[in-house]
Amino acid sequence: VSASADGPQQLADGLVLRSAEPGDLGQIQALLASRGDPADARDFELMATDPDAGWELCAVVVDGDRVVSTASLLDEQVRLGGVELPAGQVELVATDPDYEGRGLVRALMSWAHQRSAARGHLLQVMIGIPYFYRLFGYGYAITIPAVRELSTRPDRPAAPDSVLRLARLDDVGAIAGLQADAQRAFDVTMPHSPPRQRWLLGQDSGACYVLERAEEIVATVRIPNDDEAVLLTEAAVRDEVAAHALLAHVAALRPGVPISVVDRPGTVADAAWRGWLAPVDPDVEASQYYLRVDDPAAVLDALRPVLGARLHGFAGDIPDEIVVSTFRAHYRMAVQASGLGAVQTGGALQAPGTAGGAGVAPDYVGALLCGDLGMGGLARLRPDVYPGPHRELFHALFPPLTADLLTFYLPY
Ligand SMILES: CC(C)(COP(=O)(O)OP(=O)(O)OC[C@H]1O[C@@H](n2cnc3c(N)ncnc32)[C@H](O)[C@@H]1OP(=O)(O)O)[C@@H](O)C(=O)NCCC(=O)NCCS
Repeated sequence: VSASADGPQQLADGLVLRSAEPGDLGQIQALLASRGDPADARDFELMATDPDAGWELCAVVVDGDRVVSTASLLDEQVRLGGVELPAGQVELVATDPDYEGRGLVRALMSWAHQRSAARGHLLQVMIGIPYFYRLFGYGYAITIPAVRELSTRPDRPAAPDSVLRLARLDDVGAIAGLQADAQRAFDVTMPHSPPRQRWLLGQDSGACYVLERAEEIVATVRIPNDDEAVLLTEAAVRDEVAAHALLAHVAALRPGVPISVVDRPGTVADAAWRGWLAPVDPDVEASQYYLRVDDPAAVLDALRPVLGARLHGFAGDIPDEIVVSTFRAHYRMAVQASGLGAVQTGGALQAPGTAGGAGVAPDYVGALLCGDLGMGGLARLRPDVYPGPHRELFHALFPPLTADLLTFYLPY
């Protein structure tokens, strides 16, 4: 039995939680395919057999030789104002129906969070089952971009000087470059990790394309497999000409099939396509990534350069220290000429306003730091998030942010 972060764990009824091993592949694939999507089997194989990821990212619960539950933890990196926050994402979660409701995913989430902390992750990102992950410390935080229908289909022939083709392994550097350019339009970003950029080329659930012009890659797009519709996701282009050519080529690929685009506001593709897309439905239902911040002190500490720069740009009165309370604990940073001092953690502080501070419930820390509402928007919605007496200052410290997260699984 190979060791997980803390070695195999004995669970109730003789079940054992341990790291996955090559011999588990077939059973994990069968479990994922039966509880999720058949394409999950291939996704898991791509991850687990990649030497840059490997079996240790997956844990299983076994009953004897039988794999009855599984979860995997992916390495991510969330970027905010020049700061890189190592992060984790739990994916490919499933329990055999015969073993549901026995706390196996609860045990696997605990394994994943321990492994995530051991890998230095400061937060966890999650797409997933509505409400369920709130049981494990996640809170809804970042709006998932809207999908917009193409209202006018390009009628001109596909740009003759460019070629659309499936991406190959030797394109991944060019794709990553285009994605990095596109992500410059956002405050909070998460790129595909280099190994994941490779896995995307081998998925059964969709395809990744590149547009080549004069032997250069000038656009890329990821399109999930769907006979009834074409959805352009993660579109990134060099220039507006490439954007128009990409759309025309994709339309020519699937004549008559309706086309939609995942909104990526502020990017070159967005500017080029804006006039072609139907407006976002104002009644669209909420759809958000979850974030989990187990240790607010560590994240605030990492974000001191960002918070210090916001403080520096604030014109009003600034107290001697910045106090943020999550009610059961609170965090203080001294205001110094050079920026903010190291975070000091204290105990419960039920009324942070009395200390000139702000309050934020623990499950909303992620939304406050990375979400599109900021302190002002959250305080309007949530009685347990408020700026305290230095209202303008805390609005400036925690502004609404735009975000662009690239994930292995598309949230559509
Ligand atoms: C959802 C699923 C992963 C839960 O697995 P499980 O091993 O039965 O979960 P656990 O027994 O550890 O449940 C943990 C807690 O969540 C609760 N719970 C289980 N499913 C839930 C759901 N869909 N919504 C809310 N709570 C749920 C349990 O009651 C339990 O609560 P408790 O610890 O307070 O008693 C499993 O049912 C499954 O494989 N579903 C299909 C695949 C899937 O949806 N995968 C996720 C893709 S991201």
